[in-house]
Amino acid sequence: MVKISPSILSCDYAIMGEEFQNMKDCGADWLHIDVMDGHFVPNITLGAPIVKCMRPRSDLVFDVHLMISDPMKYIPDFIKAGADVITFHVESDSPVEETIDLIRSLGKTAALAVKPGTPVEAVFPYLEKLGMVLVMTVEPGFGGQSFMEDMMPKVKKLREEIVRRGLDVDIQVDGGVSMKTVETCAKNGANVLVAGSAIFGAPDRKQMISDLRAAAAKYF
Ligand code: DX5
Ligand code: ZN
Repeated sequence: MVKISPSILSCDYAIMGEEFQNMKDCGADWLHIDVMDGHFVPNITLGAPIVKCMRPRSDLVFDVHLMISDPMKYIPDFIKAGADVITFHVESDSPVEETIDLIRSLGKTAALAVKPGTPVEAVFPYLEKLGMVLVMTVEPGFGGQSFMEDMMPKVKKLREEIVRRGLDVDIQVDGGVSMKTVETCAKNGANVLVAGSAIFGAPDRKQMISDLRAAAAKYF
């Protein structure tokens, strides 16, 4: 199933409550919350206290993308704060299997992300335990960057492996997803689409979410 997960990195943080409600009204499935620590990536965003404040404001799935060096240390805080799906990077300093087990033991969906320079095979040993894999289509850190088309073979290879093993694992793409790039993402096997600037910058956000969904749905 196709899911649209607007990245709140492009929202107006001064009115986050209204932005979250607006995304629900516009038909978003999930809310993609980008957490950056200024160490794993050269940018800082927000932490668990903000997620906790936002939780009562929205019943959408909180899709928390941890771009932090030591995700294991902070995952219990994010889950207590109301995260539903926790994505961390295979390139982080935390032990991958133990971190996945921690997320699962706390009853949430574990997802693993790969940066553009990391081969997608890095997630293969963990596929059975994952609800989703995130294939980054830009270098993590900032919104509004150009989509990296050359990540598509990774998405394709991953979808083939998931099908081969008979698993039900979502594939998420994040970075530069727009009406120009959504088709290639879906065609190659990505069914969870993160879009920040394309949605928050659209003159008609509802139309944009519906157009992105329709373009991807052709392949699922
Ligand atoms: C980048 C973040 C993305 C970002 C995407 O590090 O993980 O979620 O907000 O923004 P756009 O859709 O503008 O490329
Ligand atoms: Zn993200």
